[in-house]
Amino acid sequence: MCGIVGYIGKRQAYPVLIGGLHRLEYRGYDSAGVALLSDSDRLNVYKAKGKVSELEAVAEEKDCSGTVGIAHTRWATHGGPSTVNAHPHVSESGNLTLVHNGIIENYAVLRDQLKQRGYHFQSETDTEVLVQLIEYVQTSLGLSLEDAVQAALKRVIGAYAIVVLDRRFPDLLVAARKSSPMVVGIGEAEYFIASDASPIAEYTKQMVYLKDEEVVVCERGRELRVYNLSGENVPVEVKNVELDLTMLDKGGFPHFMLKEIFDQPSVLQDCMRGRVLPEHGRVILSAVTEHRERLCQARRIVIVSCGTSWHAGLIGKQLLEHFCKIPVEVEYASEFRYREPVILPDDVVMAISQSGETADTLAAISLAREAGAFVFGVVNAVGSSIARNTDTGTYIHVGPEIGVASTKAFTGQVCVLTMLALALGEARGTVDAGEYKAVLNELQQIPGKIERILAQNDRIETLSKIFTYAHNFLYLGRGWNYPVALEGALKLKEISYIHAEGYPAAEMKHGPIALIDQEMPVVFIATHHQLHEKIISNMQEVRSRNGRIIAIITEGDEVVKQMVSEYIEVPDTLACLAPLLSVIPLQLLAYHIAVQKGLNVDQPRNLAKSVTVE
Ligand code: M6R
Repeated sequence: MCGIVGYIGKRQAYPVLIGGLHRLEYRGYDSAGVALLSDSDRLNVYKAKGKVSELEAVAEEKDCSGTVGIAHTRWATHGGPSTVNAHPHVSESGNLTLVHNGIIENYAVLRDQLKQRGYHFQSETDTEVLVQLIEYVQTSLGLSLEDAVQAALKRVIGAYAIVVLDRRFPDLLVAARKSSPMVVGIGEAEYFIASDASPIAEYTKQMVYLKDEEVVVCERGRELRVYNLSGENVPVEVKNVELDLTMLDKGGFPHFMLKEIFDQPSVLQDCMRGRVLPEHGRVILSAVTEHRERLCQARRIVIVSCGTSWHAGLIGKQLLEHFCKIPVEVEYASEFRYREPVILPDDVVMAISQSGETADTLAAISLAREAGAFVFGVVNAVGSSIARNTDTGTYIHVGPEIGVASTKAFTGQVCVLTMLALALGEARGTVDAGEYKAVLNELQQIPGKIERILAQNDRIETLSKIFTYAHNFLYLGRGWNYPVALEGALKLKEISYIHAEGYPAAEMKHGPIALIDQEMPVVFIATHHQLHEKIISNMQEVRSRNGRIIAIITEGDEVVKQMVSEYIEVPDTLACLAPLLSVIPLQLLAYHIAVQKGLNVDQPRNLAKSVTVE
C-alpha cells in the first residue's frame, strides 16, 4: 500500500509531487506529506492527516519552492493515521528525509539497536527506522548516500520502495525497492520516481521498472545509475510506456466508480480486440499459441487471487472445467501461501489480479514457481510485479481502475477467462464446435447488452433509495451466478458499509434463512438459466417469511415479475456469460446506495486499491 513520488529536475517539484499523489491516492489516503529542498536550500516538510487535499491546505501558505522533493500518501500499517506517523520521516540530524511503501519486519530490533546508539523516534512507524538506519550507516562508516542506502538495506527484512533526499546534496535522489513497486521516468534533464507509471506518464514515456533489491541514483546532469545491494552496476532497461491519460480522470462522471461501470462496454471491446476474430470464427490468445503444449498438458489449474479477482476466479473455474475438462481449484492467495499446498510441476498456477501488486498473490506465485509449476497471469496493470513474475499471461486491457471498488476489472477478468477457456478448449479438443461458435458470437454481443443495462441507471438509482435504511443484505445465486452473488455483496459492503453476505441460494435453508424478516433485503440473481425453477422455489421461501426481494432477472421473465415487487431486467444471454450481465445492476445498486448515504464511494474507509501488504 502507500504511494510514493519523487522528482528532481528543472521544474518546480511541488506541483509534480502533488499531482502524482492525487494519482496514487488509490494506494492509501490516511495521511500525506511532502519534503522539498527549497530554492534557499531549506528542507521543508509538510504533512497532514487525511487525504492529499488536506496536505494541500496545510502547504497553501508555506514555501513550496524547490526543484527536488519527495512525497507520500499513506495506508497505515504500523501506527495509526496521524500527522506524526505521516511520511516523509526525517533523520536524527535533520539531514535525511525518506518516504517508504512496504513493511519492515525487523523494525523493532533495529529500532532498539538505534535507540541504544542515541537515536530518538518520533513516530510509531516501521519507516522511521529506515531513515535513522541509513543515517547511522552513512555517518558511522563515512559512506556516500547511495552506498549508505545499499549497506542499510542489507540489514533490513521486509518489503520496501523508498526514496531518500539528503539536504546536503540537492542534486541527488536515491531510491530502492524490494517487493514493492517502483518506476523511474526519464525526462529531459529530470527524473520522476513513483509507485506506478500514472504520475509520470504526462511527463515522459521513457520508464525504468526497478527490480527487487535494486538501488537507483537520480542525479542532475548525470545518466541514471542502477546498482544491486552489493554495489554492482545493473544495466538500465528503459521501456517505452504509453498510458491513456484520459482514463485517469473522471470524464464528467461524479465518481471514478460510476465512470468505470460505464466504461465497461468500451473496455470489453478493447479486451477482445485482436483476440476474438469474427472473420476467422476463432479466439486467438498469444499466451495459448506460444505455450500450447505446456497449457494443454496441465493436469490441474490452481487459481490464486484475492477479493473481486477471487470471485472472477470462481467463474473461471466453471469456464475452464466446462470447456477444457481440466480440474480447477480456486484459492485465496493468502491461505494458499501459508498452508503448504501440494504443487506439482505439471500444474498451471493462474494468478488473477487487477493491480498486479497484491502481496499475497505475488507470494503465492513465487511459491508456485519454486515448486516448478507453470505460472499464468491474468492482470490489468501493464508491467506490474505479477505480470513480470509469471511465465506467460493475458492482460485484461480495461485501462486504469481508480475506484477502490473493482468493477470493470471484474468483467475484464471474466472476459479473458472466457476467451482463455475457449482457446484452450479448442487446443485440447475438448470444446464442442457448435458451442464454441455460439459462445464466441454471443461474447461479442455482451458490450451492447451491457449498454442496455446501463440505460436503466436512473431506475436503479430510484430503487436504491428504498434500501439505504438496511443494516444487512443477503445476495443469493446459483451456478454461474453464485460468484456474482459474492461479488454483489462485496461491492455493497465495501462502499456502503452495510453488512452483506453472498450465498449459494440453496444453502439458504442451512442457516441464513433464520435471518430473514421484513427488514432484510434479499437480492436474488435469478437469470433465466439452469436451476431457474429451483431459485424460484428459494424466492418463495423468502417471500413466505416476509423477506424483501430484489430480483435480477432475464428480460421478460413474467413469472418472477409476478412474485416480487422489485426487479431489474438484464438481456438474455448464454448461461456461461450471464455473470458479465448480472453483475452490472449490482455494481450500480451498491454505488447508488453508497451515494445516497453520502459516503466516499471512490475511497471507502480503511481500504486501499492495491493491497501490497499481507
Ligand atoms: O489488484 P487485485 O485484483 O489483486 O486486488 C484484489 C483485491 O484486493 C480487490 O479485488 C478488492 O477486493 C477490491 N476492493 C474489491 O472491490
